[in-house]
Amino acid sequence: MSKITIRYQLVKDAKRFFEILNNPNFIYFSVTVNSIADEKKILKENPKRRKNNESWNYSILYDNQVVGGIGIRINQARKFTGEIGYFVDEKYWGKGITTEAVKLAEQEGFKKLGLTRIEILMQPKNKASEKVAIKNGYTKEGKLKKAIKDKNGIMKDAFLYAKVL
Ligand SMILES: CC(C)(COP(=O)(O)OP(=O)(O)OC[C@H]1O[C@@H](n2cnc3c(N)ncnc32)[C@H](O)[C@@H]1OP(=O)(O)O)[C@@H](O)C(=O)NCCC(=O)NCCS
Repeated sequence: MSKITIRYQLVKDAKRFFEILNNPNFIYFSVTVNSIADEKKILKENPKRRKNNESWNYSILYDNQVVGGIGIRINQARKFTGEIGYFVDEKYWGKGITTEAVKLAEQEGFKKLGLTRIEILMQPKNKASEKVAIKNGYTKEGKLKKAIKDKNGIMKDAFLYAKVL
């Protein structure tokens, strides 16, 4: 059986991340990267983001190959709350990879980072993302109006799912 693991993101993941994220079918995802060099710059900042307890970013590995990313962003005003975000290479969609990655990231969040609340936000049309939250036992708390920006900088409503200890 194929194995899903997560580990901290490395600068050498830049090329794969660029390939994965440079996908026009990522319609409900706001992160875009212009080049591998830009992606490297972003990845180089990860140790600092962890040191400042701002965000904890992991690569998702499927049979030891990088297939996506998952991160926990710490709410800086309420450091007991984190938000999980994720993406996976389209070639690997529908295999349960993100569902498993959320389980693993959530353990880091609750056990290692001391969070008591984890949120997942998605555009209402992003059914795959919503399903990932539901399959992990997150509860729908409502719809936030104009809470997230899409790729074009337009504010969009978001469903708020959360799990609390
Ligand atoms: C969202 C995303 C990470 C899900 O990744 P994944 O590894 O395919 O997720 P999983 O396989 O664990 O679960 C997805 C579930 O959604 C279901 N699904 C996919 N598209 C769907 C749709 N249009 N309607 C209903 N369900 C859908 C899948 O069938 C699967 O459920 P199942 O296991 O019961 O069959 C992936 O689609 C992605 O990278 N999208 C682009 C980036 C993005 O939108 N990130 C989230 C931002 S909030």
